[in-house]
This record gives sequence, structure tokens and C-alpha cells, in this order.
Amino acid sequence: MATKLVYLEGSSPEATLCPVDIERLETLDKLKDHIASIFSVAEAGSISFHSESGLLTSIDEINRTVAKIGVRVDNQVIREPHGPRELPFVGNYFEIHPDHIGNHERLFHRYGNVIKTVVMGRTVYLTNDPRVAKVVFGENEFFTKMPSDFNHPLFSMNNNVALFIGDTTSPAFKLAHKFIPPSMSTNAAQRYMPILQNAVQDSFTVFDQLDGRQAAWNTYQYMLKLSGQVMTKVVLGMDVDHFDTVDTQLHEIVRLIGDYVLLGRTSSLSLPCLKYLPFSSARRLSVTTHRLISLLDQAAAAWPLPGAPDLPIPKAAVQSTCITDYLKRAVDEKNEKLPHEYLIPNIAVVLAAGISTTSSMLSYILYLLARYPDTQTKIFQEVVDNNVTPTTPWAYDTLMSLPYLDHFVKEALRLHGPAFQPARNAKKDVIVPGAYRIPAGAVVNPLFSSLHRNGDYWDNPGRFDPDRWMAADVKKHRMAYTPFAAGPRGCVGFNIAHLELRLVVALLVYRYEFVDVSAEPMRYDPEYLLDRLMNCYVRAIKRTTRPGKEL
Ligand code: HEM
Repeated sequence: MATKLVYLEGSSPEATLCPVDIERLETLDKLKDHIASIFSVAEAGSISFHSESGLLTSIDEINRTVAKIGVRVDNQVIREPHGPRELPFVGNYFEIHPDHIGNHERLFHRYGNVIKTVVMGRTVYLTNDPRVAKVVFGENEFFTKMPSDFNHPLFSMNNNVALFIGDTTSPAFKLAHKFIPPSMSTNAAQRYMPILQNAVQDSFTVFDQLDGRQAAWNTYQYMLKLSGQVMTKVVLGMDVDHFDTVDTQLHEIVRLIGDYVLLGRTSSLSLPCLKYLPFSSARRLSVTTHRLISLLDQAAAAWPLPGAPDLPIPKAAVQSTCITDYLKRAVDEKNEKLPHEYLIPNIAVVLAAGISTTSSMLSYILYLLARYPDTQTKIFQEVVDNNVTPTTPWAYDTLMSLPYLDHFVKEALRLHGPAFQPARNAKKDVIVPGAYRIPAGAVVNPLFSSLHRNGDYWDNPGRFDPDRWMAADVKKHRMAYTPFAAGPRGCVGFNIAHLELRLVVALLVYRYEFVDVSAEPMRYDPEYLLDRLMNCYVRAIKRTTRPGKEL
């Protein structure tokens, strides 16, 4: 008999029972593809067929089966994601906050690899399963990024003309995505090495003075100064001089970016009805954004320099002085530029994405260097062995080919990657690996902190161990490690980020020995859009010797 009655196990057979003509489907794989399209199963390969007598392993067995045939995913019946019971208004707020990283981890252990949470009226599904993350990040028939949706964690920051905070389907996204990434390609990023090196060298006077006073300093505050100095130069071509003195304040643009990222998060954690109050996070976010945009408008007016010609995108990417200069001069194959109305919002987003992530990451990096002196010594030794002196301009290839430094940065990003809101929206009902049914419209967030610590995919996941990266099979799944997300909406600044993280570590470790002098256990800021360290204090002690030689 060529027509079989097939249903999804876990639902009532009547609700999903479906006649399937298997005459033309000669192989099991073809049948799985067909069933996947009928029942909206994201990974056809995860489907299995079952009758009362057990698993059906071939098309012949299926052909011989007269009774209804059940479909499972990953050999599981289809199930709804669960989560803690909701309280009125606040939902699961107190189950998750203030320690959202730790509590999400706890909830995965309790409710499974896909969980459902409701916080202040916003429903978000979270996963620690890399197989689910692969589907979610795909920008495919099932998922897209849509911050314009109320439940999306970036809803309060949504602007559909900008990367990061705009919908993939917005007309502006295509254009922004065509113009912006080339300015951060591997080749383009290399050109920023001298800027990066100068910025780090600028910081030496201040760290030397702090050392002279035997003073400890907060890693986040100084790394915000450093990454603010680097990124304003790379993006705006502007000097913010954060290291004129030990007490130099943050430039207003950098300070506003910190406020913008903080308020974006706090407004998404507030009850929506509070947004009308004069001092609500949403109101303050709006005021902050306006001021930031107006300052960036002024800064961008400095570019291009008089007489600088327009250039095709690939040339502009490697010949411009900074990203703003590039965006104002780059023309596409139709000789058209990025529309003016998209320019400043995208500059704001690139700057905010660049500063907020690298400052958080670098503060964790300094913590790890101080906490693990042997690791620090190995990095120092590796830099010395490569004959780099404080005055040598670093070559891109040398920097990127130091294996221990590379492993250290990867391990730091695994355990403390700063991003944790890479949410996507389900375009239709879909069954994801693990047999979880995700309803159309749902927001799904693959949570890096838990993906990167998932014991099914990492040996001894909580252990800080740069050497794990020596093993070829360190990642048991391609998506078990994605600090920069993945797919078409993944990070476009990762070349610059990789360069900056490595160069800062190499230059600082060559000059200083970092010692942890924090008075209390580490705390991250639960109200920030990224994972940033609040209370790590180090001393940077200027080195006087290096292996084998006087410095
Ligand atoms: C350690 C450093 C960094 C990390 C961990 C990081 C991580 C990420 C992640 C996870 C996303 C995806 C967000 C999502 O899925 O919703 C993203 C997007 C983005 N990142 Fe990064 N990032 C870093 C550095 C940078 C830098 C230095 C820049 C620019 C100079 C940058 C610019 C961007 C932009 C523009 C997007 C939006 C892309 C889009 O919407 O298509 N990032 N980043």
C-alpha cells in the first residue's frame, strides 16, 4: 500500500494524522525530507518512524506497516518547552534575576535544553543546545532576526535602518549589510593595527603612574577607556584622549554609549506600562539616543577630508582613514552610496557594538591573566620569543599566529564572551532538535554562556583551560562555540575584535605583570546588555626583567 497514515507522536493522532503517499519516495532520507516539510521539522535527519512494534528502520519496513506510523524527533515524542511557574505581572523575574547567567544554567538543568521564560510580560525561549542554535541562527524558512517584535530583547532599541537593532527583512538591512562589513574585512582590519597599537601605548603613562602609586584599578573602567579610545579612532577617526591623566573622564560619546547599552537592557526588563513615566528607562534611552546621534552627526561632518575622492567599496575599505570616512566615500556598482539617513544610526551601532563588547571582554581578560599567573607567564614568554619589543610595530601575521595567545583568547571568549542576547524570531511553528515545538512568533535566544558550558559538548566545561584548544576536536559541535553568533546576522566586527583583544594582551603583558587584588568574589552587572565585570581590581606592576634579559 503506497499511502501511509503518519502522525506526530506527542500530539493526539487525530490532530496531526496525515496521509502520505510514499510511492515516489524510494529512500528513507527522501521520506524524512517529505515528513519534515509536512510537520515543519527543522532537521529532517533527526526524524524517526515508529509503529506499535517499535522503530521502523527502512522504507521496506514502513511499506509493510499497515497501522498508523508515529513520527519522533531525536527519538523523542514532540514536547512543549517548559519553565518555572509565572507570578502575576513579573512572570519568572525572580526565578531569573539578578543572577540571570547562573539561573538560566539552573533552569536548563531543571527543565531541559529549551526552556520558556516570561519576564515582565515578554516571553523568550532559551536554549543551550548547539543543534537548536544552528537552526535558530540560520536566517532560514524558520527563523529571522526581528527586534521590532515586542518580545525581542532589543525591542526598546529597535531602529530598522541600522544593523544589530534592525529587522533582517527591513529594506535598509540589505544596503547596510552590503556597505558596512567590507570596512571590517580581514584586509581592512589590518590597517587599524597602528591605531590600536598607539592607543594601547598611550595608556602606558597612566598605568605606569598607577603602578608608581602602588594603586589598584578597576579593570572594567580602564578597559572601557581603552576600547573607547580605540573604537572612536577606528570608527570616527577621532581622538578622545582618555589617557591624558589617571583621572581623565570618559569622552561624552563613550559615556553615552555606556548609558545607551545599559538603558537598552533596563527598559527591556521593566514593565511596559512604566515607559510613560518621565524618568523611565525607556524615556532616558530616547533622550540618550538623541544626544548620541547629534554628537555623532557633528563628528561625522569631519569626513571626508577635502578633495578625497569617492571609491568603489573594495578600494574604499582599504584606503579610507576610518569607518565613517569609508561610509561617506564608498560607492557600489551603481555608483550609489549608503543613503544618508542610514549613516549615523549605523555609525552609532558599530561604535556601540565595538566599545561595549571589547571593554567587557578585556576586563575579563585582565581578570583571567591576574587569576592564572602561569597562563600570564606563558603569554609573556611567547611574545618575548617572537622578538617583539615595545617599539616594534606588530605585524598582523605575527600577532595572529601566536598559538598560546590564540588559545587563551578563545578560552576567555568561551567562558566570558560578553554577548548574551542573540535572539531570533520564529517565522512559523517549528520542531527543533530535542523535539521541542516552538510556536510561530516565538523569540528564541541561544544563550552563549550556557552553550559554551554545555557538558554534552565540552569536557570539564567550567574549567579555564586554554590548552583544551590544542585538541583538533575541542568543539564537539560547530555551534557549541559561537561568541560572535553565526549566520547572516552574526558579528561583522569580529576581525577587528580578534585583532584588538590579541594586541592589547600582547602589549600589556609585555610591559606589566597583572596581579589580582580584588577584595571580594567577582560580580557581573546583571542590568547591562552584556556580561561586564563590576568589581575586578588589579595591580599592573611594570616588569623589570624578561626571560634571559633586562628589559
Ligand atoms: C569581543 C568582541 C565582540 C563580540 C563577542 C561580539 C559579538 C557579537 C554578536 C554575538 C553579534 C550578533 C548579535 C545578534 O545575534 O543579535 C554581533 C553583531 C554585531 N557586531 Fe559584534 N562582537 C564583538 C565585537 C565587535 C566589534 C569590535 C564591532 C565593530 C567595530 C562589532 C560590530 C557588530 C555589528 C555591527 C553587529 C551587527 C551585525 C548585524 O546586525 O548583522 N562587534 N556581535
